[in-house]
Amino acid sequence: MLIAVLPGDGIGPEVTAEAVRVLEMVCGDRLTFKSAPVGGAAYKASGHPLPPATLDLAKRADAILFGAVGDPDCDSLERALRPEQAILGLRKELALFANLRPARLFPELADASALRPEVASAIDMVIVRELNGDVYFGEKGMRKTASGRREGYDIMSYNEDEVARIAHSGFRTAQARRGKLCSVDKANVLETSQLWRDVVIEISAEYPDVELSHMYVDNAAMQLVRNPGQFDVIVTGNLFGDILSDQASMCAGSIGMLPSASLDAGGKGLYEPIHGSAPDIAGQGKANPLATILSAAMMLRYSLGMAEEANRIEVAVATALAGGARSADLGGAMTTTQMGDAVLAAL
Ligand code: NAD
Ligand code: IPM
Ligand code: MN
Repeated sequence: MLIAVLPGDGIGPEVTAEAVRVLEMVCGDRLTFKSAPVGGAAYKASGHPLPPATLDLAKRADAILFGAVGDPDCDSLERALRPEQAILGLRKELALFANLRPARLFPELADASALRPEVASAIDMVIVRELNGDVYFGEKGMRKTASGRREGYDIMSYNEDEVARIAHSGFRTAQARRGKLCSVDKANVLETSQLWRDVVIEISAEYPDVELSHMYVDNAAMQLVRNPGQFDVIVTGNLFGDILSDQASMCAGSIGMLPSASLDAGGKGLYEPIHGSAPDIAGQGKANPLATILSAAMMLRYSLGMAEEANRIEVAVATALAGGARSADLGGAMTTTQMGDAVLAAL
């Protein structure tokens, strides 16, 4: 099976290198890896953040392992050329609309969470984030008001088919877990959210075994910190899911711990940590690679039919943590490579 490896910028190459080492050990010659530039690295090499050859490789591959994109040098480029357009373009071009972001606290990390251990340790949830719509992909621009003042705008919209397909993902994810789905919106203010809520309620008739609740996003942000254990699965839109998943990561100890899968309707997937390119620590060997290693495990489970190998990787991560493996974000001093070594040793 062909794996497209798109390391990207900043700590992206550092963390994907560790995930590839783990996959090589677990899967041997069943996987072939092919790398391509993406993000700021691709822009600097060829003038575009998502070159045609990279997109083509992503389309041909059985699965995609993605690091992170984002480069402060590129922040003043016109938007279409910025590194972030690469990940947005891949999600859209490959119709990867369902983003699964599991958040759980490895018991060994109870002391790493910013929350009290008894609060944080209850977290075991999945955020199902819609990835192809919302304010991310609506019309946007800069214009002048009648009085000549600058005005930026981004249109937020969802149509009912987009809501329905992610609602199904949410309900199915809940069915496979504890059977609780919380739909997060802002229906008290936004029409987009009113449609979202109406459609989720309509679809719920097909899932009588799932207990559905609704929560406004501001309350959800508060509840995630007050009592993260109350959530099983959250289904939400692109922007709210982006924000809530970074927040949930701190219940799990660090943003360096949260993996993700971005899936199309057929099982093709892109796998990446939820964090970004972390320019503040790039090139220093400080990045925690576990989120990317756990993303590789999700890849084996969701796209490659290797559930047993996925479990082995997750157990190895837990074993490494139990053995004291700690990068700086987890309160330790181990380098990115040493963290990878600890997982390999556990395997
Ligand atoms: P970030 O996630 O890159 O970093 C936020 C903070 O978390 C930083 O202090 C960073 O050092 C720390 N951090 C992140 N990952 C870590 C890891 N694995 N180990 C240890 N510490 C880690 O978010 P940001 O600083 O807001 O964004 C930086 C760049 O990344 C921006 O250009 C942004 O657009 C981009 N970004 C890309 C993606 C992606 O490629 N999917 C995701 C988020 C942000
Ligand atoms: C993420 C990132 C991206 C997003 C950016 C880099 C476009 O924050 O993957 O969470 O907002 O989706
Ligand atoms: Mn994000």
